[in-house]
Amino acid sequence: MSSDDITPSEPSLPRHIAVIMDGNGRWAQKRFMPRAFGHQAGVSTVRKMVEYCAKRKIEVLSLFAFSSENWRRPEEEVSLLMSLFLTTLQKEVDKLDRNNICLRFIGDRTAFAEALQKKMSEAEAQTQHNTALTLVIAVNYGGHWDMCQAAQAVFDKMSRGELPKQTIDAKLINQHLATQGIPDPDLFIRTGGEQRISNFMLWQLAYTEMYFTPTLWPDFDEQAMATAIASFQSRQRRFGHTGEQIANQSAKP
Ligand code: IPE
Ligand code: IPE
Ligand code: MG
Repeated sequence: MSSDDITPSEPSLPRHIAVIMDGNGRWAQKRFMPRAFGHQAGVSTVRKMVEYCAKRKIEVLSLFAFSSENWRRPEEEVSLLMSLFLTTLQKEVDKLDRNNICLRFIGDRTAFAEALQKKMSEAEAQTQHNTALTLVIAVNYGGHWDMCQAAQAVFDKMSRGELPKQTIDAKLINQHLATQGIPDPDLFIRTGGEQRISNFMLWQLAYTEMYFTPTLWPDFDEQAMATAIASFQSRQRRFGHTGEQIANQSAKP
């Protein structure tokens, strides 16, 4: 075999990218505009990133759209965010469906208006068999909520005798989280300069590679996403092993 036969393969892409889309408000304020203007600009970035991730054959893109703590914002901003969510949903679902994108929502829906909950379920049902990219939108989501609802679901099943007692392990919890069936994020991105998780997927991020950028979400673009992915590809994930163990493993055919 000559050396020409060895074609370097591209380092693995992340299967699942999870993003905290932060910085919309500051982006608008820098332009002396109301925060709502920033949220609207943020929706355009969402569109671009969904297209880009589908093109790069990323399996799952999760976007944190509204946290369980964001209800603390002024009422006016909360209702603006809710109506932006509803109108975007109405406008985009058919297009997502045509592009073979599967939409899934995670978070506590019970706080939303009936009409919105119905739209969410319909959008999920309409796109459930799509296979290109799974787009996970986290709305009224919190990592604490997710773990609590998983624990509650396990407890309820045990009380009904549907699960043998004393079998609580990580696999069982995983199967009851809002993200069940979805691989844990490989790459976490937070725009907007803060370096914190803000109650996003606390359980699921256990071994995720973290990437923080000062770029505000409305300014985040394909090039910025490519840079984040390249940073991921340059890292060695060890999952508790030594660097040598991993290097030997990946040298094997
Ligand atoms: C993120 O942008 C969007 C949501 C939380 C809904 P922000 O609104 O938090 O923007 P900054 O952090 O105030 O700039
Ligand atoms: C996190 O952003 C939530 C979303 C992007 C939806 P925040 O802007 O609400 O986070 P904190 O409060 O600054 O940590
Ligand atoms: Mg913020």
